[in-house]
Amino acid sequence: MDRHLRNQSTQPLPQMKIFNNFDVIARGWYFALKSHELKKKKIISKVLCHHQIVIFRGEDGIPKALDAFCPHMGADLGIGSVEGNNIRCFFHKWSYDGTGKCVDIPCLKNPLENIKLRSYACIERYGFIWVFPDAIADFDLPFHDGLENKELLFFIGKSYIRTCHHHVTMINGIDKQHLKTVHGINIEMELNYSENDYEANFSLKGIIPKEKCIARILKRIIGPIYEYSMKYSAGTIGFLSTMKGLHLFGNPNCKLPETNMIYAYRPLENNRIEVQPIYITEKRKGFLGFFINYFLMGLAGIGFYWLKAEDGKVYENMRFNSQALLPMDQPISNFIAFINKQEASIWSKH
Ligand code: FES
Ligand SMILES: [Fe+2]
Repeated sequence: MDRHLRNQSTQPLPQMKIFNNFDVIARGWYFALKSHELKKKKIISKVLCHHQIVIFRGEDGIPKALDAFCPHMGADLGIGSVEGNNIRCFFHKWSYDGTGKCVDIPCLKNPLENIKLRSYACIERYGFIWVFPDAIADFDLPFHDGLENKELLFFIGKSYIRTCHHHVTMINGIDKQHLKTVHGINIEMELNYSENDYEANFSLKGIIPKEKCIARILKRIIGPIYEYSMKYSAGTIGFLSTMKGLHLFGNPNCKLPETNMIYAYRPLENNRIEVQPIYITEKRKGFLGFFINYFLMGLAGIGFYWLKAEDGKVYENMRFNSQALLPMDQPISNFIAFINKQEASIWSKH
């Protein structure tokens, strides 16, 4: 029996519209391929969010994604070839452009007007090709706040599998109670929350307590405030920024840089998900800049592995329940409500 259906007779869980619903693939950006895997003139056929697609890169260098099966007789276009900016089926050599329109049928003088493959919006950023489950994306793939117009440097971490829905693991970043009970971070955090149609922004801020010696030293070096933010892009990506608002020795003129990382998610078969960490920083120039860049990305990585090691086991056999949330779990209630405002894509199970 599916793990998520256990205990239904004694602990029934209502199915939500989008949140924690494995039948739904929400509209949003999903990481599909590492950029370097798709050279010019190459096609890769792969399953993304239970849906077989082809991604190819033509002469213009821009990745394009289409449904994988040729509308003629269903051959996988992944074994076809790239010609210019179009893709040609291996079987009877029909050709399609990046919008999925059939542009050539060798045995006919003119291609048939009504033959069209579904196309999907693609974007190349942070070392990945990302795909949106519709021809036109509802919104751009976001940046961390403040990095919108900067030249970026990124480091792709090792992806890993979780056996629960990504909406549930995404809560980790805003679960105030567990910061203390699992990670021993004893800071009373004040929440600032805002959302728009496709983004939920959480900012948590608190005063570093005095009682521990290490905290007192830390306070001297970085000032008294600890702050981090988590921006969720439509329930498929988390943008974490830590060390926000820190000043060296509390000097307001010496702002310390933040660490930034992305948690990207995609659903896999059998109610599992893959999590892809990506560490990001503004690209600073020179030897010192190089050192700071890698120091910050390294710091983000250490923080990530430390926190993951402490609470990763929770997600091994979790059956998420939101029926007894406390007032201090407000960020989680906000997140669930935000996710349920999102829309199911055409890749969802109908
Ligand atoms: S199956 Fe693709 S052209 Fe016939
Ligand atoms: Fe955690």
